[in-house]
Amino acid sequence: MGAGYVGGPTMAVIASNCPDVQVTVVDINDNQISKWNDDNLKNLPVFEPGLAELVERTRFKNLHFSTNIEESIKKADMVFISVNTPTKKKGIGAGNASDLRWIESSARLVNRYAQGYTIVVEKSTVPVKTAAAIEVILKSISSDLNELENHKSFDVLSNPEFLAEGSAIKDLQQPDRVLIGGHKKSAIEALEKLYLKWVPGEKIIKTNLWSSELSKLTANAFLAQRVSSINAISQLCEVTGADVQEVAKAIGKDSRIGSRFLNSGPGFGGSCFKKDILNLVYLCNHFGLSEVANYWEQVISINQHQQNRIYRVIVNKLFDNLSEKKIAILGFAFKANTNDTRESPAIEICQKLLEEGAVLAIHDPKVSELKISQDLGKKPYISRDNKLKSNMNGVWSYAKDIEESLISADAALILCEWDIYRKVDWNQMSKIMRSPSWLFDTRNIVDEYSVDRTKINLWKVGKGNLNE
Ligand code: UDX
Ligand code: UDX
Repeated sequence: MGAGYVGGPTMAVIASNCPDVQVTVVDINDNQISKWNDDNLKNLPVFEPGLAELVERTRFKNLHFSTNIEESIKKADMVFISVNTPTKKKGIGAGNASDLRWIESSARLVNRYAQGYTIVVEKSTVPVKTAAAIEVILKSISSDLNELENHKSFDVLSNPEFLAEGSAIKDLQQPDRVLIGGHKKSAIEALEKLYLKWVPGEKIIKTNLWSSELSKLTANAFLAQRVSSINAISQLCEVTGADVQEVAKAIGKDSRIGSRFLNSGPGFGGSCFKKDILNLVYLCNHFGLSEVANYWEQVISINQHQQNRIYRVIVNKLFDNLSEKKIAILGFAFKANTNDTRESPAIEICQKLLEEGAVLAIHDPKVSELKISQDLGKKPYISRDNKLKSNMNGVWSYAKDIEESLISADAALILCEWDIYRKVDWNQMSKIMRSPSWLFDTRNIVDEYSVDRTKINLWKVGKGNLNE
């Protein structure tokens, strides 16, 4: 249940590794399902390297996408719940707690339509103890069911997803580990049997339900904490003349620290990190652990600070005035290799630049103009000749290619580490930009020596002493 960024890719990988298992992904959103069933694989609702090929191989064979939730549940031996669990906007815990309404409605549907014995698997990230609520819902047999339908029973498992967007298929095919939490050994083994088709047994960790639920929140909190830690150090590097990439390399060689997740950037985005830490903070406060809650809250504060300070650096370098200045935004997704913009640092940074009066030409290889417009809450400026005029303020347009975004630009701002941005010939681009021009590299992907020979001024996150 749930044909989103998690449900779609996860089920495609299960279907391709288990040809003898029929997998049906259902969703309440017709439009989402039509996209998954589209003949043109470019129209799949989720972009992930390798996903279209997997879907092509398995779709209409043992992988199906459907809106017929009732029938699909009736036929299922196992139901994976991978609906969204965003942060609550209203009521108790608003701004922190997870909104579990879709988990609950999914559990009620399973309770209503399931037949015989069904294993219900929590894929969505949920607060600890959610499985207990699901169990209660599944045990409450509604009075309008006839006696035959009452012959049903359930086991609940927690099997959190650790895939990262952009590398989802690789993460699912070769996971570091698979975590299965549950009370009932036979149910755990039934799910384990599926994974054993392609995952070595020693990588499958079996725990109790609550450890599994909490491990997912903790893993995301630790990963986010590493990003905030290196981002905090990036600011210190800039003022002391150190280089955050060199520092990251030096500390990453310590096997106790490890080298991954030490890239300083514009702040973490994505649908999970912020939501899961807010949820952890809420849980800690709920159990009276205010010091623990305050500790984790700092990870989010530093992240917010990183986004703010990058925007301030830009304003400052452009003489504290962005009015009528054109800035090329390179990358709008929350990271490379995905079309997902949820919590993307680009959203807030662009909104602030627009408020300052900047004229933005936004480019991203996978994010559509419509999506950017929805995220910014502002329609693009479209002139008859599709060109931005130099006397404009606080408007943006969608750039079809990198070069278009850079024509007469005062600055370029790299927000995403897409490969194509690594390959830009800044020597050529310096000729079409307006001097004095700036390049702000928040992902540390530009080779500074290649920019050195141009007229462009370079700022890189966490890099002291540039242009001095
Ligand atoms: C997932 C997880 O489930 C979430 O807990 C995790 O923290 C982030 O990743 P994701 O797949 O990214 O969510 O969400 P999304 O892409 O929004 O997909 C969820 C899908 O579930 C949507 O297509 C939505 O239409 C569908 N849905 C939602 C249902 O089918 N039924 C519902 O009741 C609610
Ligand atoms: C994350 C977890 O990695 C994954 O295990 C979980 O299932 C879902 O949440 P995701 O949000 O898709 O995955 O991407 P991830 O690669 O973790 O990146 C999250 C954010 O951190 C991105 O904005 C990324 O750019 C940023 N990041 C990551 C950095 O700024 N520096 C790094 O070194 C790594």
